[in-house]
Amino acid sequence: MRETVVTRNDLVLPLFVNEGISEPVEVVSMPGVFNWPESSVADEVKRAWENGIKAVILFGVTKHKDALGSDSLKADGLMARMLRSARAAVPGMVVIADNCFCEYTDHGHCGVLKTGDPDQSGVVDNDATLANLQQQAVVAAEAGADLVAPSGMMDGMVEAMRVALDQHGFDHVGIMAYAAKFASSFYGPFRDAVDSTFKGNRQTYQMDSANGREAIAEALQDEMEGADILMVKPGLAYLDVLARLRDQTDKPLAVYQVSGEYSMIKHAVAAGAIDEKAIVVETLTAFKRAGSDLILTYYANEAAHWL
Ligand code: PBG
Repeated sequence: MRETVVTRNDLVLPLFVNEGISEPVEVVSMPGVFNWPESSVADEVKRAWENGIKAVILFGVTKHKDALGSDSLKADGLMARMLRSARAAVPGMVVIADNCFCEYTDHGHCGVLKTGDPDQSGVVDNDATLANLQQQAVVAAEAGADLVAPSGMMDGMVEAMRVALDQHGFDHVGIMAYAAKFASSFYGPFRDAVDSTFKGNRQTYQMDSANGREAIAEALQDEMEGADILMVKPGLAYLDVLARLRDQTDKPLAVYQVSGEYSMIKHAVAAGAIDEKAIVVETLTAFKRAGSDLILTYYANEAAHWL
């Protein structure tokens, strides 16, 4: 009688790759999640594959930050290097590039700042950022990414990336759009993980958590621009958005069980308040029941055994 069954095929594992370390470093606010040295990327991708995970999404933690995030535009920069390592490790693994600048900019925002924002509090120059995103997508594709995943919520990002990829012969590379991404406090531990601090907030580009209808409009806009997969993020607090979107599109949907969701579960487990396995399976099942086809979760490796 069960309507919804989550399997390992539904899971995507996020990995943090840090060019400044030689041993794995646990993320303080995310027990059990690590920054991996570049030399471990291949092993981690193989480990995920052996667990039955079919897709990974990579985040870079760089020492080379500047106002533009230019390290991510270089063919020998961290983003390209980690994607090449993952690509070479397991030919069958779906390798996803997170396309954003916040991990690579010294001001920590997701694009270039407007010159009229001298205190660097987060007024991003949308269209100047689009041109950089085009370059970044092509660099990711050249490095072997199967999917590029723009996460900066710039208006027009999907169309800009689609055009650039096609022009460079990467018409086979898909786009998983962070389509309805809310300006959320649930990202706190992630910023710890990627060593990103910034002034102000992301409310000039990410969505107001109060807006459900606008989220649908944003997502359908990305579909129109050519997105292959639409993502809702965070997960548990936005299941209504996911379910509404499921009714409005035939595209595959993804959901991101973000860092704060992971940390809340981990810390409650450590306090003896809840049963880890049961609660993780319950949350993953809720995502799928609400309409998601893919689930990005830091629990992917463990959940692969629990499901
Ligand atoms: C980058 C990005 C963020 C996350 C994924 N990509 C952080 C943010 O927007 O501040 C969050 C992931 C998580 O919290 O697990 N734009």
